[in-house]
Parts: sequence; structure tokens; C-alpha cells
Amino acid sequence: MKNNSRKVISNQLKRNTKLLYRLKKNYQNDFTPIISKSTLKVYEQIKNYYKQEVPIILDNGCGTGSSSLWLAKQNPNTAVFGIDHTNKFTSTYPYKNIIFAQVEISQLWRLLWEKKIHIFKAYLLYPNPWPKSKHLTKRWHAHPAFKYLTCIADSLEIRTNWEIYALEARDSLEFMTGNKTVLSKFYPKTSISLHEDKYMRSGHDLFKLMSSKKRSVRLTII
Ligand SMILES: C[S@@+](CC[C@H](N)C(=O)[O-])C[C@H]1O[C@@H](n2cnc3c(N)ncnc32)[C@H](O)[C@@H]1O
Repeated sequence: MKNNSRKVISNQLKRNTKLLYRLKKNYQNDFTPIISKSTLKVYEQIKNYYKQEVPIILDNGCGTGSSSLWLAKQNPNTAVFGIDHTNKFTSTYPYKNIIFAQVEISQLWRLLWEKKIHIFKAYLLYPNPWPKSKHLTKRWHAHPAFKYLTCIADSLEIRTNWEIYALEARDSLEFMTGNKTVLSKFYPKTSISLHEDKYMRSGHDLFKLMSSKKRSVRLTII
């Protein structure tokens, strides 16, 4: 069955000219959101697994959580946290190593960073592209909390169907971590999330970014 999801349409035809300026600002300035009770609760859960040395996977902006299910199945010895600020999570999940939480992810990134908790692998699968040029800072890679994600995650994977988003995210990842990021166009045989499925069926180009590191050195100065 073929889908007809529209490709990203934008008034921005190349990387945003304000990106570097924004990254420098984000790097220099602290970001201190008010931490809600739900964020604290999921932080406690993550901390418990962390103390027991269970590798933690964060599926950020997981939507219904089909990707979280896939990750839990593929990685049975980890704890997979499917995080979204909406509450559309699937109600049936046959794996014990999965926890869904309705949380604002920028708060969680900041708190985990503050508490020095490391995440084995973090995913941002098909984040909202915010294609209008003026919405640059709404894209995760230009958001003031993104530096915390790059710091806490030993490995980070981003997938998108908008090439400009991928190019900007690579710049941001390399800026924040000082490490090389691998960007590739990819052709999945099966989809791991609802959005990936929709975009595959609609014949969109798909892009994957992989950033791995030992530890971020850059963020220690803020
Ligand atoms: C385009 S959907 C992608 C969903 C899923 N990852 C997929 O690939 O099918 C983006 C998701 O990010 C979530 N999201 C956006 N901003 C968020 C935030 N600040 N905190 C938590 N979730 C957020 C949205 O609710 C939405 O479910």
C-alpha cells in the first residue's frame, strides 16, 4: 500500500544562516527549565536502572511508541524509556524492559545532565522539522537543551526525511561534541516507527545521523 505523505516544504533551501550563531549562544548559556513532578518521577526510575548498571535507551519523542517496542525487543538487556509529552502510547507491550513516560524531554535531558546520568543510546526519530526558517530554535539541534542530550548520550541517532534538517543536525552534533558525526541516506527494509513507515511508503528520502563518543569534553565549562 502506497502512502502520500507530503515531503517537507520550506522557505529555507539550505542550512539556516543563523545556525552557527544560535549554537554558540546555546553553548554559552545555561538552560534551566522548571522540572515538573512527572520529569522527576521518570528521572528516579532511570536512576534506579542506572545504579544497577542496566544500559538505558531513551526514545525521545516516541509518539505511540512503536519504535520503543522495537528497541525493547532488539535490546532485551536494556531499559527502554519511550518519552513523549503527549500520552498516545500503545497500551499493549509484551516486553518487560519498556517504560513509557509523558514528559517534556528538554527538562529530562537537563536533569539527567545535572545528575550525571549517562544514557547508553538515545534516539530522536523523525522529530517535527519546523520547516519555516524563523522556527530554527524549535528544531531540536538548535534548541538550548540539545547540548545536554549530546552530553548524556554515549551514542545518539537521529532520523529525518528532510535533508536540510539532517545537515544542520550534523553541524550541531559536531559543534557540541567535537566528534565526527556520520550522516547517510538510508533505505530501511522494514520501518521501526510510524513516521518512518509513512515516509517509506510515500517514497521519501530518509537520512540517518549517528554520533558516538567517549565523553563530551566541551560541556564541562558551563
Ligand atoms: C513527528 S512525531 C515522531 C514520532 C515518532 N518518533 C515516530 O517516528 O513515529 C514527533 C513526536 O515528538 C513529540 N514531541 C515534540 N516535542 C516534544 C517535547 N518537547 N517533549 C516530548 N515530546 C515531544 C511529539 O508529541 C510527537 O509525538
